[in-house]
Amino acid sequence: MRAGHGPGLGSPRARYSANPMAKDKTQFTCNACGGTSPRWLGKCPACGAWNTLVETVSESASGGKNRLSQREGYAGLANAQPVTPLAAIEAQDVARTPSGIEELDRVLGGGVVEGGVVLIGGDPGIGKSTLLLQAMDALHRLGLPTLYVTGEESGAQVALRSRRLGLEASQVNVLAEIQLEKILATMEATQPAVVVIDSIQTVYSDQLSSAPGSVAQVRECAAHLTRAAKTTGITVILVGHVTKEGALAGPRVLEHMVDTVLYFEGDTHSNFRLVRAIKNRFGAVNEIGVFAMTEKGLKGVSNPSAIFLSQHSEPVPGSCVLVTLEGTRPLLVEIQALVDQGGPAARRLSVGLDRDRLAMLLAVLNRHAGVACADQDVFVNAVGGVRISEPAADLAVMLSITSSLRGKALPKGFIAFGEVGLAGEVRPAPRGQERLKEAAKLGFTMAVVPKANAPKKPIAGLTIHAVERVDEAMNIVRAIG
Ligand SMILES: Nc1ncnc2c1ncn2[C@@H]1O[C@H](COP(=O)(O)OP(=O)(O)OP(=O)(O)O)[C@@H](O)[C@H]1O
Ligand SMILES: [Mg+2]
Repeated sequence: MRAGHGPGLGSPRARYSANPMAKDKTQFTCNACGGTSPRWLGKCPACGAWNTLVETVSESASGGKNRLSQREGYAGLANAQPVTPLAAIEAQDVARTPSGIEELDRVLGGGVVEGGVVLIGGDPGIGKSTLLLQAMDALHRLGLPTLYVTGEESGAQVALRSRRLGLEASQVNVLAEIQLEKILATMEATQPAVVVIDSIQTVYSDQLSSAPGSVAQVRECAAHLTRAAKTTGITVILVGHVTKEGALAGPRVLEHMVDTVLYFEGDTHSNFRLVRAIKNRFGAVNEIGVFAMTEKGLKGVSNPSAIFLSQHSEPVPGSCVLVTLEGTRPLLVEIQALVDQGGPAARRLSVGLDRDRLAMLLAVLNRHAGVACADQDVFVNAVGGVRISEPAADLAVMLSITSSLRGKALPKGFIAFGEVGLAGEVRPAPRGQERLKEAAKLGFTMAVVPKANAPKKPIAGLTIHAVERVDEAMNIVRAIG
């Protein structure tokens, strides 16, 4: 349960004016230099950059009156906010409410935070609305008043989803609205503790003439909602669209504005979904929550270590199991590679792994292990739609590529991890012991790991080959394969 209000907030909840700048006019501000123009221009008159002007709200005439000229100085404003030594400011723990959906609480750093703003993005249809509806219902049951603002679907559609999720008796308040000022007014009138805006791209402010979803609208609406969250202590959860490349759509500044950024990952064709914290002012980043999509909604997977392995009855060439670390948990993920005769321009494609890093690893393989793929197409895939960003995946990627090239499978029960440098050295991965123990627990029997990660005491059931260089790793695999 929430303990009072956030720092500096009056009680009851501070009021947030739904329309604080009623007489505001719009102007166009350059994203590159900050220069302004009263009308839209293709080229910024100040810095000459093209296509950088976006619509913004200019300060009202009354607001402008407070501005002092350089000659008058700022003396009149010096006492506006007292300067306080850090030691004299009372540090307050953030009031956090766990939703009871354990995997979601894990990525949030323990629960929703009073006055916190969360942005959650992900591919269309991946389950954003489903998870948030489940979370709102769980929070409502815990006694927090909640408001679900839907701009993408009608109230009836949300109700239909709630029936499917078995939440037909849910008391979550639903508002089908897309105008920012009306949403803020409803927030003020109903005083919820948690608000979901699904999605920020559908919301528009009548202060701006640009269309909903435009950079200007998204920025302005998110700024108002963030300010409302900070002044009233309401937790605001924004759903954000993603671009074709998988990044959050809209202005980059959106990610800076909010406290927490979560991404939904996963292959929509598989049942598993990952929610990853990529920014969190109230908790660890790169923590992941793992869910399975079922007919009754998203269910947390509390022991996810082996769900990203495909089931081969016998080992196949081009496959190597990686032990990766996601937040605090080791995960076993199968890396698959296919090396095939290429045309005049050899292709390098990767799914779930960085393509530039793949190019680098192929160059290291060629130079330091004598494995050339210059005239071959190379495809690499992390199974299950998981995205792997840590460099400790390097060794497993290289071993799967050489396995495919040679047409020889790695032995049954084989795992690998370790970062590879440009000089062909194999660098240690963080928390190697934990990774090895998890692999042993799941029945893996053989590991190739960086020398610095070799455990001092043997791990029961696991034969460990510690290597310092890429060519050593290749020789070991050739010897045992
Ligand atoms: N009857 C059903 N049984 C099982 N799963 C279903 C069923 N109906 C929908 N789903 C799952 O729910 C997903 C839709 O989830 P949801 O609407 O929460 O996604 P979203 O991320 O909010 O999408 P959008 O970006 O379109 O708003 C579908 O892709 C499907 O996987
Ligand atoms: Mg949705």
